[in-house]
Amino acid sequence: MTKRALLEMSQVSAYYDQIQALQDISLEVNMGEIVTLVGSNGAGKSSTLKAICGQIKTSGTISFLGNDISKLPPHQTAKLGVAHVPEGRRIFPKLTVKENLEMGAFQLKSKKDIEQQMELVYQYFPRVKERLHQKGGTMSGGEQQMLAIGRALMSKPSILLLDEPSMGLAPIIVEQIFEIIQELNQTGMTILLVEQNAYQALSIAHRGYVIQTGKIILTDSAQNLLENKQVTEAYLA
Ligand SMILES: Nc1ncnc2c1ncn2[C@@H]1O[C@H](COP(=O)(O)OP(=O)(O)OP(=O)(O)O)[C@@H](O)[C@H]1O
Ligand SMILES: [Mg+2]
Repeated sequence: MTKRALLEMSQVSAYYDQIQALQDISLEVNMGEIVTLVGSNGAGKSSTLKAICGQIKTSGTISFLGNDISKLPPHQTAKLGVAHVPEGRRIFPKLTVKENLEMGAFQLKSKKDIEQQMELVYQYFPRVKERLHQKGGTMSGGEQQMLAIGRALMSKPSILLLDEPSMGLAPIIVEQIFEIIQELNQTGMTILLVEQNAYQALSIAHRGYVIQTGKIILTDSAQNLLENKQVTEAYLA
């Protein structure tokens, strides 16, 4: 099977004032893959996802489905099919679960499309369906993560950018979230997963990149990275 790059970053750099957060990042995500970006605190993982969805200014090129998206703002990258689930979930605490989901569908025009996506979210997250009228902020951490992923799915995306979905969750909930990520992928969703939890992420990914102080220092199949001494010592200890 020939690989087709859905997302391709080439020599992408980004700064926050004088501080360089990303230095010549090049990476690609092919259709149907789970690719993970692992690295420690402050390595530039979140910044990489923000660069893709247009939340920060970058130099270099970022192509998605053949379009150069490097200068597009978030609402336009979202329209093209990029869905970002940010670090810390960022659901709307005062809105109900259903309203949170509807916010994710703001690009969809037809009511039928919205209902169809809702049904899809309910299939993956029955718990979310049970809590439609509860305020988002009163959901547990795990439920909020499910809601955040569900909200992203509402936009009918072609790629999901997941920023530390396991953060702050109990191990059993982390297992569930990772299982759902795998299921989503098995039904065709392409995923770029950012994690500090390198072991879990590499266990479900096809390929991985290791980022350190804004630079990609290593890339390989997830299996090889799991067995790589440099990786095990730095991230899997
Ligand atoms: N809004 C900001 N203003 C200034 N510097 C920032 C800002 N956001 C991030 N940085 C800096 O950019 C670098 C990369 O940060 P980033 O959030 O991408 O790291 P990360 O790999 O996601 O870390 P973590 O695992 O802690 O979430 C860090 O040095 C950070 O301090
Ligand atoms: Mg981060």
